[in-house]
Formats: sequence, C-alpha cells, structure tokens
Amino acid sequence: MGTIAMVASGKDGVGKTAVSVFTGAALARDGSRVLVIELDSGLRSIDIVSGVYSRIIYDLADVLSGRCEHDKAIVQSPMQSGLYVMSAPFNSGTISADRFVKLCTVLSADYDYVIIDTASSTGALLTAASTAMKAMIVTTADPVSIRGSRLIADRLYDMSVQDVRLVINRLVPERVYAGAVPNLDYCIDAVGARLLGVIPESDSIALACSGAGSLAPGSREYKIFSNIAQRIKGNEVPLEMR
Ligand SMILES: Nc1ncnc2c1ncn2[C@@H]1O[C@H](COP(=O)(O)OP(=O)(O)OP(=O)(O)O)[C@@H](O)[C@H]1O
Ligand SMILES: [Mg+2]
Repeated sequence: MGTIAMVASGKDGVGKTAVSVFTGAALARDGSRVLVIELDSGLRSIDIVSGVYSRIIYDLADVLSGRCEHDKAIVQSPMQSGLYVMSAPFNSGTISADRFVKLCTVLSADYDYVIIDTASSTGALLTAASTAMKAMIVTTADPVSIRGSRLIADRLYDMSVQDVRLVINRLVPERVYAGAVPNLDYCIDAVGARLLGVIPESDSIALACSGAGSLAPGSREYKIFSNIAQRIKGNEVPLEMR
C-alpha cells in the first residue's frame, strides 16, 4: 500500500499545485509510481502545470459519479516523466468525501504515492485529511499566509494526520535579510510544523508552471525538489536554498 499525502495551504495561490507536481515528478524520477489528484470542485490548474490539458477526457467528478473507471481519468504527464495526473472538474459541483476516500484507498494499491493537491476550501481540506497519512502545508513567508497555515496545521493535528510538514515557497532571501518578510525560524515556529523544504521565487518554476517544460536537470530548482522527495522518503538531506 502506497502513501497518501495531501498538499494544503491557508491561502490561495501560494504554490500547492506547483509543489504537488514538481515534488511528484521528483519522487517519480527516484523510481516511485506517483499519482497527483487535484481535489477541487470547479477550478482546474493541474492540467496546465503538468502539461496534460490536451489529453484529458475524464476528470475526478466523472470517476466519483461512476461515469468512468478511474484509469480513464488518469493521464501521464508528457512534461514530468513518470508522473500521473487526475484533474479536477471544470464545472463546480459536490465531491463526495466518502467516494473520494474510497478512491484514494483503491489507488494507493497501485501507486507508491498518491498526492492530493487540495483547494483551500474547508471541504477539500477535511476530505483529504480523512484519508491522508502525510501533509505538506505550503506557505509563502508573509504574515497572512503564515497565520492561515497555522490554522490548517491545527486542523490537521486535530484530525490525526500523522506527519505534517511545512514547505516555504517563493522565498526571496533578500527580503528576509532586509526584514521585509519573516525569517524561516519565525515561519516554522508560527505554523508549528517541521520544515520539509524551502523553494525560492524562481523564473524557471514560473515557466514550468505554464506547462512549457520541466525543471532543468541539475538546476537549483530540480535539486530542491529532489531533496524534498528524499525527505518525504525519510532520508536526511541538507537544506539548499541557493
Ligand atoms: N517558486 C515559485 N517561483 C515563481 N513562481 C511560482 C512559484 N511557485 C508558484 N509560482 C507561480 O504561482 C502560480 C500559482 O501557483 P499554484 O497554482 O501552484 O498555486 P495554488 O496554491 O495551487 O493555487 P490555488 O489555491 O488556486 O489552487 C503558478 O502558476 C506560478 O506561476
Ligand atoms: Mg492549485
């Protein structure tokens, strides 16, 4: 049985989908079978970030409503080698939490990692938390996102998610040195979760998020996601930010 991990945040647009896709890709290139499911009921973005938008016929809502088997809605990313994706529906609607949890359990028999890329709605959070063993909270280093992340961390601890980790995204070190944004120690203490990784503000990540390609092998960003993947697997690797 594989690991079910969720990616959450206390604020929209901080990089959940980017972290889901590039962490998933890093786990896949390390030999794991990885599926990312976008748990949203009306806004889809993973198809663009993972480059599968022209290949999707069925989505999560089709699977949960019984309109198709789950394998019909799983598409291999042409950009991120070895990564499989199930997209959120375009039309808003209700996602059945019970069916979603059952689906994840079934899929975790086929995949080493099932990564749930959540929306920041409470429904998506609670649904994912009722099946996830691990959680990655993505935050930017700003007080609003950090406060939201603390609330999310508390809810995840209340729901007994076993391993809650923090990913600080879009960091601009110069802003930390200038005192314009909180430093890493503050972020970690304020959220109350162990650090999994720090991802800088990066043109190559922004470009890759547009589905234009993958992160260049050997690049700083490629290495950062490889290290996050290693830490998820329980290996100790140093934090690299530059
Ligand atoms: N480290 C980064 N450096 C530069 N740009 C980034 C970085 N991470 C994310 N982005 C940009 O931010 C955008 C939003 O990221 P993303 O869609 O992953 O956020 P999200 O938390 O999933 O949003 P939502 O709450 O809407 O689901 C991306 O399309 C990308 O352009
Ligand atoms: Mg998203």
